[in-house]
Amino acid sequence: MLEVRDITVRYSGLPVLREASITVQEGQTVSVVGANGAGKSTLLKAIMGAARLAPEGGISFRGQNIKGLKTEEIVRRGLIYVPEDRKLFKPLAVEDNLLLGAFVVDDEAKKRRKLEYVYELFPRLKERRRQAAGSLSGGEQQMVAIGRGLMSDPKMLMLDEPSLGLAPLMVSEVFETVRKLRQEGLTVLLVEQNVLEALELADYAYIMQTGRLRHEGQAQELLESDVVRKAFLGL
Ligand SMILES: Nc1ncnc2c1ncn2[C@@H]1O[C@H](COP(=O)(O)OP(=O)(O)OP(=O)(O)O)[C@@H](O)[C@H]1O
Ligand SMILES: [Mg+2]
Repeated sequence: MLEVRDITVRYSGLPVLREASITVQEGQTVSVVGANGAGKSTLLKAIMGAARLAPEGGISFRGQNIKGLKTEEIVRRGLIYVPEDRKLFKPLAVEDNLLLGAFVVDDEAKKRRKLEYVYELFPRLKERRRQAAGSLSGGEQQMVAIGRGLMSDPKMLMLDEPSLGLAPLMVSEVFETVRKLRQEGLTVLLVEQNVLEALELADYAYIMQTGRLRHEGQAQELLESDVVRKAFLGL
């Protein structure tokens, strides 16, 4: 579904993403894990056309080139990105934030169906649908951000550290949601620092260190590998 080949991003001449290649197959959940500053968000922004890419390399989505396209065009093709900082419109109601995600859906009935689906997934948001998004807890705001992504009827969802800054209970809830989406067959690319959880729920995973994807493999195998156990799990 998504094929990234040898892409590089430089800021002021310094590479922060070096010749990165990843493949995500339809229906898979793929995790990219790595420490602060490894380049995880840069990778997702680069895929979304929101970081300046070096001329080398290519990105294709559902068999078509998307490198060089505008973010909005990439969104229209069904690739949706939920950013690390959530980017909600805080004074607006929860429901209005969700509906903003559906700007690519022109069919009103379909919009309502999507909204019902998001409320089924996150009943808490339904209760709070008239409340300003900024008044919600961090975890609830993350649900709005994911919900907004789902409103656009994605073919593939990219989540940038959805568990960031959340209390343990909310962290489990967020990962539970990702599991559910996976079961429903949605293709997901998940970026996380929460290595254990991210590997446990993924099919395939990449380990990123200082701008490079250094290791990759079946998530279960990586979980049991020395490199992960020593470098990330402190075992
Ligand atoms: N717009 C920018 N201009 C200059 N440097 C940048 C810019 N964006 C990111 N960087 C640098 O690129 C590196 C990778 O940043 P990135 O945000 O991709 O890391 P990350 O893996 O997502 O980290 P975190 O887990 O903290 O979110 C960092 O050293 C960062 O300072
Ligand atoms: Mg980041």
